[in-house]
Amino acid sequence: MAHSTILAFYLIATGLTYGFNGDSFELECPDECDCHYFRINWVTDCSESNLTEVPYDELSLSVYILDLNGNNITTLKPFPGDIKMRRLQIANNRLTRVDKDAFKGLEYLIDVDLSGNNISYVDPEAFLDARGLLNVELQDNPLTSVEGPFLASSTLQYLDISYCNLSSINTQFFDNITTLTTVDLSGNPLKTLEAGMFDVLTSLETLKLNDCKLTSISENTFASAINIKYLELSGNQLINTDWPEVLGKLLRLEYLNLRKSGLTSLSEDTFSNCTNLVTLILADNELRDLDVATTLGNSVTHLELLDLSNCNIQGPISGETFTNATRLKTLYLSGNPLVAADLQAALEPLPKLEKLFLSHCGLRDLPDNFNVFDNLLELDISHNPLENVFTKLLAPLEKLEYLNMGYSNLSYIGPDTFAKMTSMKRLVLSGNDLLSLEAGLFGNLTQLTTIELEFCGLKRPLNGLAFFKNLTYMDLREIRLGGNPLVIPASGPIFPKQLSQVSILDLSNCNISSLNVDAFKNTENITDLNLGGNRLRSELGSLSFLERLHHLEKINLGSNNLTTIDPEVFTHNPKLHSLNLLDNPFVCDCKIAEMWDWANMIKGDLDVLVGAKSAEKDIVVKGNKKKKNLYCHYNETQLRNMTTMVNKTVPGRRPFAKPRELTFANRTWAKYVRESGCEPVVKILRPVAYVGEIYDYNQATHISTGVTIVAVMALGLGVASVLMTIKLFRRKNVVDADTETNRKVR
Ligand SMILES: *[C@@H]1O[C@H](CO)[C@@H](O)[C@H](O)[C@H]1NC(C)=O
Ligand SMILES: *[C@@H]1O[C@H](CO)[C@@H](O)[C@H](O)[C@H]1NC(C)=O
Ligand SMILES: *[C@@H]1O[C@H](CO)[C@@H](O)[C@H](O)[C@H]1NC(C)=O
Ligand SMILES: *[C@@H]1O[C@H](CO)[C@@H](O)[C@H](O)[C@H]1NC(C)=O
Ligand SMILES: *[C@@H]1O[C@H](CO)[C@@H](O)[C@H](O)[C@H]1NC(C)=O
Ligand SMILES: *[C@@H]1O[C@H](CO)[C@@H](O)[C@H](O)[C@H]1NC(C)=O
Ligand SMILES: *[C@@H]1O[C@H](CO)[C@@H](O)[C@H](O)[C@H]1NC(C)=O
Ligand SMILES: *[C@@H]1O[C@H](CO)[C@@H](O)[C@H](O)[C@H]1NC(C)=O
Ligand SMILES: *[C@@H]1O[C@H](CO)[C@@H](O)[C@H](O)[C@H]1NC(C)=O
Ligand SMILES: *[C@@H]1O[C@H](CO)[C@@H](O)[C@H](O)[C@H]1NC(C)=O
Ligand SMILES: *[C@@H]1O[C@H](CO)[C@@H](O)[C@H](O)[C@H]1NC(C)=O
Ligand SMILES: *[C@@H]1O[C@H](CO)[C@@H](O)[C@H](O)[C@H]1NC(C)=O
Repeated sequence: MAHSTILAFYLIATGLTYGFNGDSFELECPDECDCHYFRINWVTDCSESNLTEVPYDELSLSVYILDLNGNNITTLKPFPGDIKMRRLQIANNRLTRVDKDAFKGLEYLIDVDLSGNNISYVDPEAFLDARGLLNVELQDNPLTSVEGPFLASSTLQYLDISYCNLSSINTQFFDNITTLTTVDLSGNPLKTLEAGMFDVLTSLETLKLNDCKLTSISENTFASAINIKYLELSGNQLINTDWPEVLGKLLRLEYLNLRKSGLTSLSEDTFSNCTNLVTLILADNELRDLDVATTLGNSVTHLELLDLSNCNIQGPISGETFTNATRLKTLYLSGNPLVAADLQAALEPLPKLEKLFLSHCGLRDLPDNFNVFDNLLELDISHNPLENVFTKLLAPLEKLEYLNMGYSNLSYIGPDTFAKMTSMKRLVLSGNDLLSLEAGLFGNLTQLTTIELEFCGLKRPLNGLAFFKNLTYMDLREIRLGGNPLVIPASGPIFPKQLSQVSILDLSNCNISSLNVDAFKNTENITDLNLGGNRLRSELGSLSFLERLHHLEKINLGSNNLTTIDPEVFTHNPKLHSLNLLDNPFVCDCKIAEMWDWANMIKGDLDVLVGAKSAEKDIVVKGNKKKKNLYCHYNETQLRNMTTMVNKTVPGRRPFAKPRELTFANRTWAKYVRESGCEPVVKILRPVAYVGEIYDYNQATHISTGVTIVAVMALGLGVASVLMTIKLFRRKNVVDADTETNRKVR
């Protein structure tokens, strides 16, 4: 019994370092917002809270990241002096202008996201006080045309002004932001690029000019921007462009995207100066008579990816074509009419090729030298008229490790098709209408690690008969069955014994409304289970299949039909660290608070619940604009009674300071937990019972294991007290009393 007492004490000790809310009380936090640390940064998350103005008065001066995305803020006033804000996110609001003093005094500001507003004017001096400014996002705003220099900053590196309705960029535009390394001008109707506009940007490395209605680029446009490595020019009509001159100065270019740019021919010397090119995308241009060999010439020695999809190439793809592109790893030839014999000769010099895309090529036959590709990982031969003579054609692919035959209109695959492909590791058959699979079809694929059968019209998950009865497929770890209209039996396992080693299983969008308790009896090693987009309900025992999955680490139950959930269902999944419950019709009741407390206190981390608080992707530069939140909804009776419910204060939970109008049925879990008045009811001893079970179980066999567990617990206790000490030192006012406790603990 001693060990469970120690463990209980350990759990209580660690639990006490968090509030029941997951909110930290250390710094000020606006009433409508949720605040927490992200690493060492104090995050104030006020996103999607229907705010009409910035809560200037309630901000802590130590706010590091302020997220105001998705509100209805219309104007910016100066922030309080001395605020140490690093990142300000006000995407998707209703701002109309950025005045000179909008960011006055924000000396520490590094990142500003103003995208998706209604901004027509930005004062060039708005960012002058931010002496370390690096990133400004202004995309999707209707900017009026700019005269003279756009912004002034001596440090700015990243500027996104895509889709801002700019029809011209004056030659002084970048004069006061010469430190830029990345500029995105896509989606502005520029029509032409004048010489000189980028001349001051000598540090520019990435330039995006997609969909700018460009018809011409003047010869000297990039004459001074010699450091450009990454250039996108897709979706334009660049017919009258002197490519050798335009690209001639870009000696450092590594990535060039000219997709859908109206190119019809390319002269021999087009890329002759671009000797560092690694990725070249020429897809969706009518390069009918392109002589690949001459155009790529001797300049392509570093090329790793070449995309020539849908170029209608009729010209010679000859044995010489890729002679000098010996580093090529990925080649797209999809959508070009090709003949197997040509292909064979052309591909011979490419032994390093890893990915080859040949879909929609009208191939009736396959080259029989595929076995030269020792490195070929992915072969895509979808959408070719191969069906009838299938088996014979695939026969030479004995050494292939990765085969993608997805979306090939195959309705039947002969039982011997893969019999000789014993090296196969990853097989993709998704998108074929495979109503059933032949007995023994995958039998010989003993090295298989991954099989993808998404959207195949399958009714039974995976018939054991498709595998040999007498074998366990030791390497088969990942099965993807998303999008099949599965019919799950009322009892018994859904996968055969041969698949006992599977750890990643995707059963998303499979029309599953229930899974019996033994559903995963033969596949108990699952660590990552995706059940998103099904119709699972909250009936008693509907999640009992979880009891068998002791190794489970990650589960997606998003977009199901769950109305309530009890942390108790996860009792047998001690390793669980990611639980996705987004987009379920949860009812707001104290079970929500119980789940919250379970994540926060038993699991020790609210991040376990996906969407409970801002995830990393919500608070990084160029990140998400719209966060996925966990929601529950009040029913009408509750809403009518809300005035009495709203301020039930519970110790440990942060109350709302201002009176609130509750007219919306949908609440985020974070807000509901604060206003619910639900007592923290987590039965802290429950997981102790479970660990105790392991302890007793092990004791029967190895006495030393039990001792080890107790030792680990003791160690945990030590770590917990160190953590507590650190945490408590930050709270000056309570230091004295608590250090005494710590001394006792030690
Ligand atoms: C914001 O307001 C809209 C309607 O005006 C409502 O549907 C939504 O639930 C509100 N969001 C929050 C977080 O209160
Ligand atoms: C915020 O803007 C949305 C969309 O324009 C609108 O539906 C909503 O009513 C507004 N909410 C408030 C509180 O103004
Ligand atoms: C901006 O550039 C102009 C020249 O184009 C210069 O006169 C002005 O002083 C600069 N402003 C700042 C704030 O650097
Ligand atoms: C190609 O680069 C060389 C220097 O390496 C330069 O002299 C030449 O002018 C460039 N070609 C073009 C067309 O700019
Ligand atoms: C390949 O490069 C060599 C020199 O590096 C050159 O002589 C040869 O013409 C090039 N081959 C093709 C097909 O361009
Ligand atoms: C399975 O592969 C082995 C060689 O690894 C081969 O001997 C056997 O014939 C294959 N089975 C079938 C049914 O083709
Ligand atoms: C397993 O059964 C298959 C036929 O079902 C047979 O070809 C194979 O040799 C057997 N393998 C072993 C290891 O017994
Ligand atoms: C998988 O489960 C078996 C028992 O079913 C067990 O012996 C084996 O160690 C497990 N493998 C892994 C990787 O957990
Ligand atoms: C969700 O469950 C409710 C009953 O709880 C049922 O009426 C409804 O049809 C279900 N929705 C779907 C999409 O299965
Ligand atoms: C509304 O929710 C309350 C509290 O959860 C519950 O007691 C009541 O039965 C519900 N009313 C309806 C109409 O569903
Ligand atoms: C409404 O609130 C009153 C006062 O708190 C309470 O007595 C009553 O039971 C509530 N009604 C419902 C339907 O929750
Ligand atoms: C809610 O309760 C807290 C603590 O009791 C109190 O400070 C606050 O003023 C109350 N808010 C409202 C809106 O009644």
